[in-house]
Amino acid sequence: MALSAELGRSGDPAEAEPTPVRVALLGCGTVGSEVARLLTEEAAEFTARAGAPVELAGIAVRRPDKHPELPADLLTSDVEGLIASDVDVVVELVGGIEPARSWLLTALRSGKSVVTANKALLADCSRELSEAADASGADLYYEAAVAGAIPLVRPLRESLAGDRITRVMGIVNGTTNYILSAMDSTGAGYVDTLEEASNLGYAEADPTADVDGYDAASKAAILASLAFHTRIAASDVYREGIGSVSAADVAAAKMIGRTVKLLAICERVVGPDGSESVSVRVHPVMIPRSHQLAGVGGAFNAVYVEADGAGELMFFGQGAGGAPTASAVLGDLVDVARNRAGGGRGPRESAHAGLGVRPMGETPTRYHISLQVADRPGVLAQVSQVFAKHDVSIAAVRQRDKHSTASLVVVTHAAPDAALRATVDDIGELDVVHEVVSVMRVEGEDS
Ligand code: NDP
Ligand code: HSE
Repeated sequence: MALSAELGRSGDPAEAEPTPVRVALLGCGTVGSEVARLLTEEAAEFTARAGAPVELAGIAVRRPDKHPELPADLLTSDVEGLIASDVDVVVELVGGIEPARSWLLTALRSGKSVVTANKALLADCSRELSEAADASGADLYYEAAVAGAIPLVRPLRESLAGDRITRVMGIVNGTTNYILSAMDSTGAGYVDTLEEASNLGYAEADPTADVDGYDAASKAAILASLAFHTRIAASDVYREGIGSVSAADVAAAKMIGRTVKLLAICERVVGPDGSESVSVRVHPVMIPRSHQLAGVGGAFNAVYVEADGAGELMFFGQGAGGAPTASAVLGDLVDVARNRAGGGRGPRESAHAGLGVRPMGETPTRYHISLQVADRPGVLAQVSQVFAKHDVSIAAVRQRDKHSTASLVVVTHAAPDAALRATVDDIGELDVVHEVVSVMRVEGEDS
């Protein structure tokens, strides 16, 4: 234990109480309100777990008058003043890049540890934040930034630090999973389901961050950075949201025994010469209904990690919402308080590998393509010629006749994504193709 903590703030040996760890809470919305409630109601328990009293020193919000439920003496809108006051840890639950970035850099540079759930900020500014933490010896913890309650950051950054991770793949956005699950099970509309997810506290302040895949891309960047010891920014992540997923796509997936999920896929890629790079992408995928991720419904998240030694690991749990996310935040806070009380420090950023990012066009994927075509001889031959032209191999074809048109479903073998995209574009130009009904990538083998 550090001498100052052992003796108390005054350094008086007669004073046996350990030094309190004073916490500034920035933001008291869906997540922050749960953190404030638990820190207050279970103060004695947190003291016992951390080895020092964990004191809520102040709560900064945008509109203090809207929070009659909070103790008035703790509330402020003066965030900078609260950070500059006599606090040891800043817990940031506001979100967004600025002003959160400036606040956290100020805190870290002055030696105050930071706990944050802000994936958008971490995915964009992890280098600056980590460097500021290293320079002052402060802690930077962010378990809640990826997959809500699920311990994932800690396993990647600590438990698996001795292994070689090859792949991280899963559902990391609760809002879009909630929407896709409802579209699949009840045929519910997209807009109503998004409103439900927002009312339940799952969606971001601007829900387009969820729907357009930005939130999942930030999380994928964080996961890939940790897994591959390489700095990956959100802008390195290939991203498609669920805005283009239609009822026709969901129905087409059902027809072939699949369901649609928005997946984050982070892979270590070994080239023919043995050189390594990483591929990081977020997009909708059709997966077999027998796949374990297919059964992950509502706002739940699930992530597979594959590593040389550990083999395959799966992490599952509540990926969004106030209480689940507060669980992760408070776990970090206890760790930071323990480090303060014990005079230690949590793990630093590990980015030594510095691997390159493989462009999406070169990444092998498989496509499901559903077409309405003219029902006459030679059509299949014309369609398959386009696949051959782009060197894309067909894994399965299914045709169903409907009066003068036929519906044609093609599932491909793996090919570079750019070749598959070009194939779809050229097929759409054929006279015999009336409509390209649905195009989506597929993952997982059919059972
Ligand atoms: P909310 O929108 O519910 O709460 C945001 C809080 O920040 C509010 O209390 C708001 O004040 C305060 N705030 C906003 N702007 C300012 C400002 N300029 N100065 C001071 N306070 C400000 O957000 P969430 O609780 O949902 O999310 C917080 C963070 O946690 C985000 O980074 C989010 O991405 C992340 N996260 C959220 C999850 C979830 O399920 N909701 C899950 C995992 C991570 P006021 O109350 O006065 O408006
Ligand atoms: N908006 C996010 C989600 C919150 O829906 O997953 C959890 O990070």
